[in-house]
Order: sequence, then C-alpha cells, then structure tokens
Amino acid sequence: MKAIEIHGSTGDSTILVGESIRSLKKYAPLERMVVITDENVRRHYQKDFPSCEVIEIGSGEKVKTLESVKEIYQRLIEIEADRSSFIVGIGGGVVCDITGFVASTYMRGVAFGFVSTTLLSQVDASVGGKNGVNLGGYKNMVGVFNQPQFVICDINLLKTLPEKELLSGFAEIVKHAVIGDPHLFSYIQENYKKGFLLDTGVIKKLVSDSIVIKSSIVNRDEKEKGERRKLNFGHTFGHAIEKTTGISHGEAVSAGMVIASRLSRQMGYLSMEETEKIEILLKKLRLPARLQIDHGRVIDALGKDKKRNRVSINFVLLKAIGHAFVKEISINELGEAIRDF
Ligand code: GLY
Repeated sequence: MKAIEIHGSTGDSTILVGESIRSLKKYAPLERMVVITDENVRRHYQKDFPSCEVIEIGSGEKVKTLESVKEIYQRLIEIEADRSSFIVGIGGGVVCDITGFVASTYMRGVAFGFVSTTLLSQVDASVGGKNGVNLGGYKNMVGVFNQPQFVICDINLLKTLPEKELLSGFAEIVKHAVIGDPHLFSYIQENYKKGFLLDTGVIKKLVSDSIVIKSSIVNRDEKEKGERRKLNFGHTFGHAIEKTTGISHGEAVSAGMVIASRLSRQMGYLSMEETEKIEILLKKLRLPARLQIDHGRVIDALGKDKKRNRVSINFVLLKAIGHAFVKEISINELGEAIRDF
C-alpha cells in the first residue's frame, strides 16, 4: 500500500493506494459511521461495507444536484446523525462530490472520507478537496474546498467497471503524465495492455503516480489561483465537447487533449513528434483523437462558464510532454483552432 498526503487549508488528507474497502474501520469510527453510496456500488460491494447506516442515491451526473443533497440532509436528520458522525462516500466521482458537499455543510461540517470505486475517481475526482454539485445545467456551480480525512483507492473494486468507465480513467492518467511526468508517459506507452487487463502492479503504479502528480500540484495551489489550472489540460474543449455531444467525460477529455496539443504545436511550443506521440497513445488506449463536432455549439459552450460570457480563457498548453503552462487565449483564437479539427 502507498500513502500520499495532501496538506489542505481545512486539514490533511491521506490517499491510500492499494488499501482495501474491508479496512475502512481502521480509518473511521464504526459506531458513528454513515455511508453514502449509489445503487450499483451497493449491489456489487455491500458485502464489504461495515455494518452501519447506509444512504443510497441514484447514479450518474444527473443526481449531482441540490435536490439529492436535501434528501440526504433529511435522511441524516432522521437517523439522528450529529457533529460526531463520520460520513464515508463509497463510490465514484458523483458519490464523492455529493458526500464531500453534504459532510462539509451538514450541521456546519462533519468529518468525512471516501472509498473511491472507479479508476476516474481514484486518479482524479476523489482527490483534491473540491466537493460540489451542478446547478441549472452548469457543472460544479455550488461547492466547497474541504479535504476528506482519507481516500481509500481499492484496486480490486475496479474489476466490475464497464470498459467505458475504465477508459475515462485512462484519459485522466494520460493527462497527469502529459502535464507533469514524461516517465509516466513512457510507462503508459509500454504497459497500457497490462493496464487494460487490470494487472495489479501496473494499475497501482498508474493510480499512485497520477495521485502524486495531482496532490503535489494541490499542495502548492489548493484553491486554484495559478498552477492548479494545469489539471484542466484538455478540459476546456473537453467539457464543451461533453456538453454538446453527450459523449463520456474521458472521450471528450481525450479529444480536448488532442486539440490542446495541436494548438501548442501551432503556436510553436510543442514539437510535432511529441504532438503525434500524445495522439498515438490516446488511440492505442481506444480513446478518440478526432470527433465529429458542431464547431458553433462547441465554441458557444466554451465561452459560457458558470453563466458568465467570457472573451478569453486561461488555457493549458504544452512545451513538452511533462511540461504544461497556462496562457490566456481569446475565445476567437480558440474557435479558429478547432475549425480544422
Ligand atoms: N475532488 C476533485 C478535485 O478536488 O479535483
């Protein structure tokens, strides 16, 4: 097992890669524990849950709303949860986001932790302290920065994941390599087939190296005033593509990373060889490098962020694989960049 630390303004968070869901009772008091989970995770893994109150929510991004939050608050009141309770989210990104928000606000905040059950949430969504819900069609419009006391990344739980879910996780792993670690990039090139087969050693390394990159950035810039923006590599176009096409997060981020790499190339920062390397690796990982998109709608979505109309964006570009930087670019320029995509 590997433990990685985040030192946040609200407290420290320990991310435990390779720990088992069955060890949950080592990290939180069983007698005061309340679990929040979704129907899929409960179906597969309830046998491994500690015996405590369980609150079940629906699954998918559609349940990441204030309505779900209100239902959970009501249930917490019914079961007489109080400030001494310890709330554990067992699930993927949606469960972790909602759990973190509920725990941070119920009775002005109770202790919480996560058992992260998808590759995407292990390498990204459960780590970093952002917790929140969507509002009025805008992603993560309401939320808090608050670090979970622990995140258990149990590699064994990935065995029941559908392939699409696994691929979404791989897209974020490539993102971490591309923004911060050329050695991890080479490792993925050499080991992705074993990764697909969920080889324990390979997956553990991919998950823990990703978390090391993300957590070291979060340790330097928890509230996203500067460097943390690098974690948005591929996500500016990715979110706009996800919103306008309805494809999965990982697929959209993959296409977004290809656009951002090509733009880095066009602007003279990234070599052709490295631009192609990124595209080739994503294709090997069965992630899209090219997509049919409605340019007008994508550009429109790009300009609208949390209800504001923007004229420019802090965009993440590459100087090399492993070296990202942020530059303000106008929406018009970005629109031009995707015309020939
Ligand atoms: N909870 C996800 C993040 O902080 O990035």
